[in-house]
Amino acid sequence: MISLQKQEVKREGFGTSLGVIAATLGSAVGLGNIWKFPYMTGENGGAAFIFVYLISTFLVGLPVMISEFIIGRRANRAAVGSFKKLAPGRPWYFTGIAGMVSAILIMAFYTTVAGWVFAYAFKAITGSLNVTDAESAKQAFNSLAGSVWTPLIWQWLVLALASTIIIGGVRGGIERITKTLLPILFVLLLVCDIRALTLSGASEGLKFLFQPDFSKITGVTVLMALGLSFFKLSVGVGTMTTYGSYIGKNESLPGTAVKVMFSDIIVSILAGIAIFPAVFSFGLEPESGPPLLFFTIPMVFNAMPLGQVFLALFFILTSIATIGAMLSLLEVPVSYLHEEKNWNRKTATAASALVIAALGSTATLSSSVLADFKLFDKSMFDLMDFMSSNILMPAAGIFIALFAGYKLGPRVVYDEATNRGRLANRFFVSIYLFIVRFIAPLAIIIVLLSGLGIIKL
Ligand code: PHE
Repeated sequence: MISLQKQEVKREGFGTSLGVIAATLGSAVGLGNIWKFPYMTGENGGAAFIFVYLISTFLVGLPVMISEFIIGRRANRAAVGSFKKLAPGRPWYFTGIAGMVSAILIMAFYTTVAGWVFAYAFKAITGSLNVTDAESAKQAFNSLAGSVWTPLIWQWLVLALASTIIIGGVRGGIERITKTLLPILFVLLLVCDIRALTLSGASEGLKFLFQPDFSKITGVTVLMALGLSFFKLSVGVGTMTTYGSYIGKNESLPGTAVKVMFSDIIVSILAGIAIFPAVFSFGLEPESGPPLLFFTIPMVFNAMPLGQVFLALFFILTSIATIGAMLSLLEVPVSYLHEEKNWNRKTATAASALVIAALGSTATLSSSVLADFKLFDKSMFDLMDFMSSNILMPAAGIFIALFAGYKLGPRVVYDEATNRGRLANRFFVSIYLFIVRFIAPLAIIIVLLSGLGIIKL
């Protein structure tokens, strides 16, 4: 008789190829494209920064994503469990734990910004976002972000929404929702792009996006670009390992990763096109940092024909974009508690949401009562962002690449990445292997050390 205990518990996974793309792309696309990418590009000199960002995406972000998929699908476990299963009794699983810590830190400040975005969408729809000049735009933002309860309540609402979907499970929650939302997001983004490109003076903005000035590049810029490519592709936090474990045996892992990467870059560029021409045609500075989106978009959109409608569309689209990313971040601790600690999904979600709400409140209050509270010279909001994107994610990235390249090694990697030889991608897989074994870990270490000022290049 077969012992029932020895049988693996059947895990839920994504149902279709389209579902795999929707969920993974839904995770990648988010505030990273519409909020972070534009303001970082604005602060760091435009096209030259984008160029460095693209290189780090090809050489580091993509290979790490493929590695995470391989690790997750091979182990058929969530992030921490995957390392435990593939390297039993060894400390590799700390990579998974570091990832989970980043996922929680990111989710803490992500829900702050998502809360602002939902609040702006609500204001735009109800017509109460009447901003006409730079002063009133700043005032509108500060009166939201600078107050205590309103942004907290929006943050908790957003978190409750993500939690409700997560409780619905991998297929009924994550896959179903991302499949519905992504097409809407694309259409809305294209509509906003057409509006932006038909503004007079749009060409200044396009120049800023596409004409590089390499004198703007420094060690710090490169570290920021690398951090952005981790953040953008949702790698180094266990998200893609966990999602990899939900991907069916017949899907192409490198193929999925490449599709997600290209689509994600396209969304970032489209978001840049929606924002910068407008910024320039209204004579604004692109360097206003994190609030760029909230200062410029309402002012710019309000001043053009049908502005109210486009303003509402823009913030609805951004709200939609935050959802897939938040689902994937929340899934990291939830799947850990569910699989490793045997908690049911509901309790695991509630517990994770509570921790995130507590930590996240400190990020939200960084714009009001905690504005003067600094750790390592940074506000709680900035600290969580910096710690995750610029330290923990790249550091985890090094170990993920080494794990795939050496611990799993070529045989397992070819097996997973070619679906046991059924895919005609051996050449591509050898390049990938070369990169994760020799290039990505070294590149990350150098960038990390020089960005932190430990070595001078
Ligand atoms: N990729 C998401 C974005 O760009 C953020 C994210 C980071 C999601 C890490 C999951 C994990 O908005």
